[in-house]
Order: sequence, then C-alpha cells, then structure tokens
Amino acid sequence: MSNNRMKPVRIGLVGAGAIMRLSHAPVITNSDVAELTAVFDRDLSRAEALTKDFGGTAFNDLEKMLESSNVDAVVVATPNLYHAEGVIAAAEHGKHVLCEKPLAIEVAECRRMVDACAKAGVVLQVGFNQRFWGQVQIAKALVDSGFIGKVHQMRSIYSEKSTAYPAATSYRYDLAQSGGATIIDLTIHRIDLARHLVGDISGVFAELTHSELPQKVDDNVWLLTRFENGGRGCLSGNRYSPNIGDGTDLYGSEGTIHIASESINPYNASPLSVYTEKSAKDLPDILREAHYPDAWWKTFEGGWITVKPPRLSPYEAQLKSFCEAVNGEHPPVITGMDGLKAQEVVQAAHLSMDSGRWVDLPLPPDAPFIIPNYR
Ligand SMILES: NC(=O)c1ccc[n+]([C@@H]2O[C@H](COP(=O)([O-])OP(=O)(O)OC[C@H]3O[C@@H](n4cnc5c(N)ncnc54)[C@H](O)[C@@H]3O)[C@@H](O)[C@H]2O)c1
Repeated sequence: MSNNRMKPVRIGLVGAGAIMRLSHAPVITNSDVAELTAVFDRDLSRAEALTKDFGGTAFNDLEKMLESSNVDAVVVATPNLYHAEGVIAAAEHGKHVLCEKPLAIEVAECRRMVDACAKAGVVLQVGFNQRFWGQVQIAKALVDSGFIGKVHQMRSIYSEKSTAYPAATSYRYDLAQSGGATIIDLTIHRIDLARHLVGDISGVFAELTHSELPQKVDDNVWLLTRFENGGRGCLSGNRYSPNIGDGTDLYGSEGTIHIASESINPYNASPLSVYTEKSAKDLPDILREAHYPDAWWKTFEGGWITVKPPRLSPYEAQLKSFCEAVNGEHPPVITGMDGLKAQEVVQAAHLSMDSGRWVDLPLPPDAPFIIPNYR
C-alpha cells in the first residue's frame, strides 16, 4: 500500500538530546509519513524545549507517555545505558521502536530487547543511519552484483574530536553510561557497515587505548576482523584529531570501492570512487552515467570513476523505511539482531583487549562482559 493512503505514524521521542533536535524531530515534523506527538526526557525542561520547537506533548514520565493513545511508535535516543529500559517498556505497551545505535551496552541486554519486541509483535529497527547514505547504497548494490569480485579486505576510519558534536550531556565520556567513547559510538557504525557490505564477522582482535582525552576512555581504537567469507578488515576511530576522518575502502578481486561518506576533504575528495578494469560497455548504468571521459572520442577502458550521489538526509530515508515497516509493508531493514551482532563485536573487542588474543564469534551465551580499565 502506498504511503499517502496510510495515516502518519504517531511518534513519541524517548530522550530530548542533541540527536533528537538535530535529526529525528525535524525529519519527523517535515515528513508526511510520521507525526511528532510526544517527547519524554527525564529532564522535563529538555522535553519542553523540544515540543516548543517541534510540537507534541512533553513528559518526564515514560509510563505516562506510553499509556497515551496518541503514540504508535517511539524513537529511543537516550544514553546507551538506558536504551534497554526505553525499548522494553515501549514493547510492553505495544509500541514499535526505532532505537538509536548502539542497541545496548551488553549483548545480554540486546537479547532481552530483541525478545521483548518479538514477544510483543512490534517492529524493532536500529539506527545505523549510515546504511541509508546514497554512496553506501550504491556500494552495496555494486558489491552484491559482484562488480568488484570477491571482497577480501575492508578498511574503515571514523574519527570525530570529542568537542565537535553539540551533545546535550557528556555521557559519552562516562563509561558506565556509554560503554565506550569511540568503539561503541563511532566504530560501531563501521562494524555495522562491515557486516552490511562484507558479511558476518567471525573473529576480532582489538587494540583500544586511551591517548589524549582528560577522561580515561577509549579515544584510539583499532579492530582487526575476520569475516565469515574469509575476508579481513581493519576498523579504526579516534576522538582527538581535529577534523572528521571518515573513509571506507573495499578491496575486491576485480575492483576497489572507496566511500568517503559525509566529510569531503582533499584526502577523501569524492563521496564514492570506484576502480575497475572493465570498459564502458560492461559498466552498470550508475557508473556509466557518472563517468566523464578524458576526451569525448575516447572510450573508457577502465580506471577510477567518481560518483557524487545527491546528498539526501539518511534520517529521512531511515524514518520512511521504519514507517513502512510499522505499516507492514516490509520487515525492518536493520533489525534488532543487526544491533545485537554489532554489539557482540564490541563485547568481543573488550575481551580481546583483556586476553591479548583473537576472540571468535558468535560469543557463547555466558561470555563475560567487561570494559577495559584505560590508563
Ligand atoms: N545514529 C547516529 O549517528 C547517532 C548520532 C548521535 C547520537 N546517537 C545516539 O543517540 C543517543 C543519544 O545521543 P545524544 O547525542 O542525543 O545525547 P545527548 O547527551 O545530547 O542527550 C541525551 C538526552 O537523554 C536524556 N536522558 C538521560 N538519561 C535519560 C533517561 N534515563 N531517560 C530519558 N532521558 C534521559 C538527557 O537528559 C538528554 O536530554 C545515544 O545512544 C547515541 O549513540 C546516534
């Protein structure tokens, strides 16, 4: 059924911090598939500030918001420690859930969240919004079609200085509330992209260190990964370098894809670059249309092609997809299990730091949860 025949999904926000103000509230308000009806924050003044600017009723009591018949679904974006309480309470009230990444700090909690949503028969989608970037979607289609052959290597960096993003609170630097300052906040996006683009991860070796920040947190992260398809990955991130560092490379047997994502700079000059040895006649439309020849009479015989997809809001696409899932048009495209499996990589990385060894995945159900003691 098409969206314009559906009633807008009435959404309550759980948390009224920076990501709600910057992304979720404006895209819901501007959307014709959703409507912002309620905002909960344990700090009522934050909930009220958001409803003043974007509409809806402010609450500082989650139960009261969930009891309201005016809410069909919630977006959960509180500090990571509190995701589980928001998601499980919403499921118990029969509300569908879009939960921000990471799904939770511990795998065991992720499992409780997945089970609660399954039991209640509600949608659980996880906010790995980078899957909705145009360049990621093109890269995914190219990989899935076999265009770059077998992907044996993936490399990704995501760095963002601790003072760059206008968070409402400093919970990220309190490991009890966040579970990590870099791995669980930034690198988790790349763990998800690794799974999305290459496949499930079967082993992790981690080097997570504290290098620069005043708080003793992981601000310098390196993960080596083994993929179930035999490939290898290197995912990294930091919280101290004064620029956004953002790039993902896929090295296949028949080509290379470089995704420079949202921060274009002299080093990552194009959002998507593809290297191929195929000539023009063997290119998919998206690449043939993107390629500009050296001279119009010359045929493309292989080389680099740069693609600049329109910069559409990934949060808009994420919301649309979530509302379609709520309306039963398709299953959620990023599931609770995707959130759980990404978290398993984080939990395994912590265990690897502890033991100095590779840790195999999936983890056994009784695998301990630890956060390294950074010095
Ligand atoms: N997908 C992304 O790229 C992305 C980007 C930013 C943030 N996020 C996620 O969104 C979540 C929030 O991040 P943020 O940057 O908005 O944080 P923030 O510090 O800006 O805001 C946190 C808000 O939660 C409220 N809060 C704290 N404990 C609460 C509780 N128990 N119940 C209700 N409200 C509570 C605080 O009062 C504050 O308003 C995090 O999980 C983060 O990982 C995701």
